[in-house]
Amino acid sequence: MSTLIKSLAGLGLGAALTLTAGSALAAGGGGCGTFTNADGVVEHLACSTAPIDFTNKGSLQNGAKIFMNYCAGCHSAQYVRHSRIAKDLEIPPELVEKYLMVTTDQIGDHINAEIDPEVQASWFGAAPPDLSLETRLRGDDWVYTYLLSFYEDPSRPWGANNLVLANAAMPHVLHNMQEKLSADEFESEVGDLVNFMAWMAEPVRHDRKVIGFFVILFLLVLLIPVYLLNKEFWKDVK
Ligand code: HEC
Repeated sequence: MSTLIKSLAGLGLGAALTLTAGSALAAGGGGCGTFTNADGVVEHLACSTAPIDFTNKGSLQNGAKIFMNYCAGCHSAQYVRHSRIAKDLEIPPELVEKYLMVTTDQIGDHINAEIDPEVQASWFGAAPPDLSLETRLRGDDWVYTYLLSFYEDPSRPWGANNLVLANAAMPHVLHNMQEKLSADEFESEVGDLVNFMAWMAEPVRHDRKVIGFFVILFLLVLLIPVYLLNKEFWKDVK
């Protein structure tokens, strides 16, 4: 094989490996923890699969609404600007200003927590972490399962505990929503929320995969003329 073909093959392989590694990382490793059931037996909690689909703008828009109304009071998302939400999620800026800007009046601002995290640390015993990159830290499925795994526990200060994160300091903030909806409807709302959080963590995730596909396709197609040229160049050399 000529050096050109070798380096092209190397490039293709490298790109393919990078893409695979990227998705493996995004998928997040590990299960969703262990818990002790009513009989005192330790059980493993399987992660539920988060419905991630960046092409579903309705889902992302609903997720943004839930995030701003239920989460931004305590959690910041310091790498995300409101104006970017308007642009990428195709929401008219006036509507973002009216309904989604709960902690600022400047559309260019990042999402800050309404209440100072330091103050919250003294209330909850732990400061709520910034959520911009949360799904990349924990994985989409972990976050999705965590949000679906709150249960009543009178021994905890806020009356709720979590199967994924034992003794979580966070109250069950979606409690009222869960009460009002059927299990399927609740899962779908939380799915939209996690879809939005995955978008916050990597807005180009969908495009990256589409571009990656065409890059590999391009390299494969390029291989044909390069291979023929190579044969042509070397045919008289014995
Ligand atoms: C009343 C304040 C409050 C609200 C509202 C709130 N959280 Fe939290 N959250 C916390 C605190 C405090 C922690 C730290 C929990 C701990 O470490 O035990 C936390 C932790 C988390 C974690 C786990 C972080 C980690 O990796 O350990 C996730 C994920 C999370 N919150 C998501 C959300 C989402 C999504 C919403 C909106 C539906 C939300 N939170 C609303 C206070 C809040």
